[in-house]
Amino acid sequence: MRRLTSGSLALLLLLAPLIRGQKVDGGDGRPTCRRCDRHRCCNCSYSGFTSVPMVTDQALSLDLSFNNITMVTQDDLMGHSQLRALDLHANRLAEIHPSAFDSLWSLEELDLSDNQLKFLNPKWLKNLAILEHLNLLNNPYSCLGSPSMFLGLVRLRRLMFGGPDLKELRRTDVFGVTELEDLTVHANNLASYDSGTLGDIWPLGRVTLSLHGPFLTNVALAAAVLADVSYPETPIILQDLNLTGRQSVQPFRESANKRIRSLSLRNSSVSDASFVDFLMVMNGDPLSYLHVEDITLKGEGRWEKANKTDYKSIDEFFLRNAVVVDVYKFTAFLQLGFLLYYPRKVSVINCGVFVMPCDTAKLLVNLQYLDLSDNLLTDLTMAESLCHGAPTLKELRVLNISGNPLKSLSLISHLVTNLLKLTHLDVSRTLYSSMPSSCSWPSTLKYLNISRAKLTATTSCLPRSLEVLDLSYNDLKGFSLDLPLLRELYLSGNKFLGLPAGQPFPNLQTLTMQFNTLNMFGLPELQSFRRLENLQAGYNKFICTCGFVNFFQSQLKQKGNVKLTDRKDGYVCDSPLHLQGELVSQVRLSVEACHRVLFVSVSCGAALLVGLLLCVLLWRLHVFWYLKMTWAWLKAKRSSQKQRRDTTDSEALLSFDAFVSYSERDAGWVENFLIPELEEQSEDGSSSTNSSRPSNTSSSRSFSLCLHKRDFLPGQPIMDNIMSAIERSRRTIFVLSENFVQSDWCRYELDFSHFWLFEAGGDAAILILLEPLSKDNVPKRFCKLRKLMSSTTYLEWPQEEERRPEFWRSLRNALRGDND
Ligand SMILES: *[C@@H]1O[C@H](CO)[C@@H](O)[C@H](O)[C@H]1NC(C)=O
Ligand SMILES: *[C@@H]1O[C@H](CO)[C@@H](O)[C@H](O)[C@H]1NC(C)=O
Ligand SMILES: *[C@@H]1O[C@H](CO)[C@@H](O)[C@H](O)[C@H]1NC(C)=O
Ligand SMILES: *[C@@H]1O[C@H](CO)[C@@H](O)[C@H](O)[C@H]1NC(C)=O
Ligand SMILES: *[C@@H]1O[C@H](CO)[C@@H](O)[C@H](O)[C@H]1NC(C)=O
Ligand SMILES: *[C@@H]1O[C@H](CO)[C@@H](O)[C@H](O)[C@H]1NC(C)=O
Ligand SMILES: *[C@@H]1O[C@H](CO)[C@@H](O)[C@H](O)[C@H]1NC(C)=O
Repeated sequence: MRRLTSGSLALLLLLAPLIRGQKVDGGDGRPTCRRCDRHRCCNCSYSGFTSVPMVTDQALSLDLSFNNITMVTQDDLMGHSQLRALDLHANRLAEIHPSAFDSLWSLEELDLSDNQLKFLNPKWLKNLAILEHLNLLNNPYSCLGSPSMFLGLVRLRRLMFGGPDLKELRRTDVFGVTELEDLTVHANNLASYDSGTLGDIWPLGRVTLSLHGPFLTNVALAAAVLADVSYPETPIILQDLNLTGRQSVQPFRESANKRIRSLSLRNSSVSDASFVDFLMVMNGDPLSYLHVEDITLKGEGRWEKANKTDYKSIDEFFLRNAVVVDVYKFTAFLQLGFLLYYPRKVSVINCGVFVMPCDTAKLLVNLQYLDLSDNLLTDLTMAESLCHGAPTLKELRVLNISGNPLKSLSLISHLVTNLLKLTHLDVSRTLYSSMPSSCSWPSTLKYLNISRAKLTATTSCLPRSLEVLDLSYNDLKGFSLDLPLLRELYLSGNKFLGLPAGQPFPNLQTLTMQFNTLNMFGLPELQSFRRLENLQAGYNKFICTCGFVNFFQSQLKQKGNVKLTDRKDGYVCDSPLHLQGELVSQVRLSVEACHRVLFVSVSCGAALLVGLLLCVLLWRLHVFWYLKMTWAWLKAKRSSQKQRRDTTDSEALLSFDAFVSYSERDAGWVENFLIPELEEQSEDGSSSTNSSRPSNTSSSRSFSLCLHKRDFLPGQPIMDNIMSAIERSRRTIFVLSENFVQSDWCRYELDFSHFWLFEAGGDAAILILLEPLSKDNVPKRFCKLRKLMSSTTYLEWPQEEERRPEFWRSLRNALRGDND
């Protein structure tokens, strides 16, 4: 009794944590997120959570972005001491418990951006000693609060804060922040700034500032901010500026004074006047990189007033996504010689450029890199831009005119022939649909990109000097051109049925063949490439034959020089049907499927052998014989039964005294001795000689014998005859001899009679031994005969004449036997 109690107590104790765990789960109603991968990264974004879900303590990163979480409680993240990254971006967080992050000792990245936090609490971060990235952007707080949030975050390298509601930045707000790789401040509505607030952060990697309001209404404040973050080595990115008003560019003077080298403007608008102002303000600054993106240009491009400025150091000018408001009034940059003379790299991308006049091209004397992609250049205007093939742009090495509505490949090849230093030509995403049979190219051309055009075939137009050739996403079905220097060949997204032959590309190292209609590839194909190292051939219509699957799986184990460098889940079987959709790397083919011919021949051979063995065995056991006989017997018996039903008088059936079963070889004896003796001889005449034949007297009974030779009905199956003969005879005389044993018919007769005897239950068999025949001489299979021989007394045919009457008498007695 006592033991039982303590046992159940132990059980209860064991269960207690379990029960409690369930209770917490159920009581809290906290949802669970199990979307963790094997790197222990849990991605619970876009799941509609309204509170922090339960996640394994082992998680290293936890992505809770894009949910509807409103608060983080004290317990929500308890125990996550291994967590390195926590992303709460884009929730509706309005409240975080001061101790919510206390156990996150290992946290390196924390993202609280795009939430509803009205106040920031320094206590949140007090235990996050090794935090490196902190994102507090776009929350409705108006100040960072004091004491500084960031005291103690000595490892902090990326800091992002601010939002539409940030009004003030005090001197102490970013105390503790020392060195940053990246600082982003959204302060479009900043109204108050203590000079020097951001000035203590040094070294400072990259600064992104949104200062819409200050630039528009409080240039002093904007200048103060810029002064604090401008260093020669620090790239400055300014966003959301409206630079259309008078004086609006003055804050840049601070940056110019600090001799900044890299400046980017994003999401801004600029007028002619302010751009000229800008050029004047920055005059003398060793600006080398000017990046302008998402800009609205108001004006006509009349910037020549600034032609006295000095921009000798400008190296790269990048303009993307510019919208020119008055596009038809916009002048060519003809008067901008002072600007165009120096840069080595110019990109004007997606700006609606439809022509670059030849005169402008002539100004770009130092240009090495020109990117005019995603514009409106046509064959006609392209010819003007490259001065109809006359030698301009002599230093140009890279020309990118990708994404323009160009149609003639032979024209562009003609236009670039005189760009004697050109190594890279990108004419991807154009409308080229055919290739002339021959072209002229600069001999220096190494890189040619004609991807995403509409080519259906390739010709020897392609120069032999190429080292990188991109023909992906065209309509090609084959490719074979001698390109002895080619190192990289991109053929994805075409209609190839197989790998191209490797011989024309003796130096090829990289080949991409994704998204084609490849069925399979194998070692011989790969070996035809002498130097191939990387192959990407996923997303094709693979036929998963044994050869291919084996080759692929061994290739994966890095046997061979060629590595498949794309994702393995791109290699999917397309056929056979039962393997469709399975990864080639995981297909397991059976031996049967893989060695079908061998398998079939071996199994057929084995089946044949077994069959043969079985036949031999059956033959040895005389099974066929027994079967044949049983069948015959059954058949015969049925027909005899029918007969018997027909004749009602059963006695009438017994029309013979005896059926004589004998071998044909013993016919002489039967005809010469047995018949005369039994059929023709009266009982009294005991003589057995043929010579004396007294006629039958009515008193002396002779026997009627059934002999197959004489009494069988012609036209009936012999089996039926035998059967009915036996049935219609009272007895069966077996004339046994070596011959008998060897005769098939006799065997049937013997066996039928056995069945019959068995049925009749009588002692109906009479055995006559014509010659001495020991039971042991009878083959074993004649078990019936052997049984008969041992159970029935048999009569031996005496060789001596004088003993024969005795024999006949015994025979007659036996024949008469039961009748008496
Ligand atoms: C989590 O999944 C979303 C898409 O559902 C994806 O955008 C995001 O990058 C993923 N986060 C991580 C950390 O992989
Ligand atoms: C958050 O809730 C709002 C309605 O309250 C809903 O419209 C939105 O789809 C939810 N967001 C997510 C990510 O579930
Ligand atoms: C671009 O700047 C304007 C202010 O000039 C701002 O309202 C808008 O949100 C900005 N757009 C983006 C995509 O940042
Ligand atoms: C820029 O500011 C001017 C006033 O200085 C205003 O007229 C214009 O609409 C503003 N542009 C944008 C894009 O905000
Ligand atoms: C600048 O432009 C004016 C006309 O606007 C011209 O007279 C002057 O020569 C130009 N100066 C330089 C250095 O190009
Ligand atoms: C050409 O421009 C396109 C689109 O801007 C870019 O994807 C491609 O890499 C550029 N090509 C070169 C050679 O820089
Ligand atoms: C060829 O151009 C396409 C589209 O501009 C680009 O995606 C691809 O990366 C380029 N190919 C190479 C080899 O740079």
